[in-house]
Amino acid sequence: MQVVVRPTKADASWLAARLIAAAIRAKPQLVLGLATGRTMERLYAKLVQLHREEALDFSLVRTFNLDEYIGLLPEDENSYRYYMNHHLFDHINIDKRNTHLPDGMTQDEKGEGRRYEEAISEAGGIDIQLLGIGRAGHIGFNEPLSALQSRTRSKALTPLTIAENSGEFADSARMPRRAITMGVGTILEAQRLLVLVTGETKAEILAKAVEGPITSMVSATAIQLHPNVQVVCDEEASTALSGREYYDWIFNNEPEWAPYRDIGE
Ligand code: F6R
Repeated sequence: MQVVVRPTKADASWLAARLIAAAIRAKPQLVLGLATGRTMERLYAKLVQLHREEALDFSLVRTFNLDEYIGLLPEDENSYRYYMNHHLFDHINIDKRNTHLPDGMTQDEKGEGRRYEEAISEAGGIDIQLLGIGRAGHIGFNEPLSALQSRTRSKALTPLTIAENSGEFADSARMPRRAITMGVGTILEAQRLLVLVTGETKAEILAKAVEGPITSMVSATAIQLHPNVQVVCDEEASTALSGREYYDWIFNNEPEWAPYRDIGE
């Protein structure tokens, strides 16, 4: 795992966007795992900017989102399908037929989990999985005690997640209590994980995820099991990390990071 700390949210988002852009340029038919949430809004704005200003080409890219709320129609403005269209897909040259989210309206949640896993396999697996971390320690909606080998399935959301996300709903009572999410095991099968975490409210959980003991109580700790992980965070989210000096040294000295040292705003 490598951890890169950038000064601001904007700088961290730029770096993450540049890493994704480099991967798309290296493999135009990239299979990209996507996340939603407030943190990703800045990153998607940067990807849209790279598409507009530097002709970043999404025409062959295929995407699989981590999760979708159960019981919301795709047109519902709180669904993750709506979020993705609104923040990214409507503004880039992606073929929407190549964009996938779990079907939150399914009558067969188990079957939907299997179908989603098969679709990922048929696409050849995920090349890069983008991840945020929730304050409950989740990746996707893998709430505490999600098995580290779990697969795509429906999960009950924790009161903390409901409190964190219900503010996004005009009527907070409409926030679904369940979601379909890729499992921790599904996420760990991606070739590479790119984790973006920003803001002071995430400092404690980020330190647990990166430096704490691996436990299903904090599913984000499972990223420590993956051989190819980049964590990009801002100064505010970094304050509880104990290995900061070493992480900075790697970023400032390892040749692979040279093209990215001056990226920021
Ligand atoms: C959503 C998802 C979640 C979020 C996490 C952080 O698709 O995967 O794990 O990444 O809840 O959300 P924000 O960025 O809103 O704090």
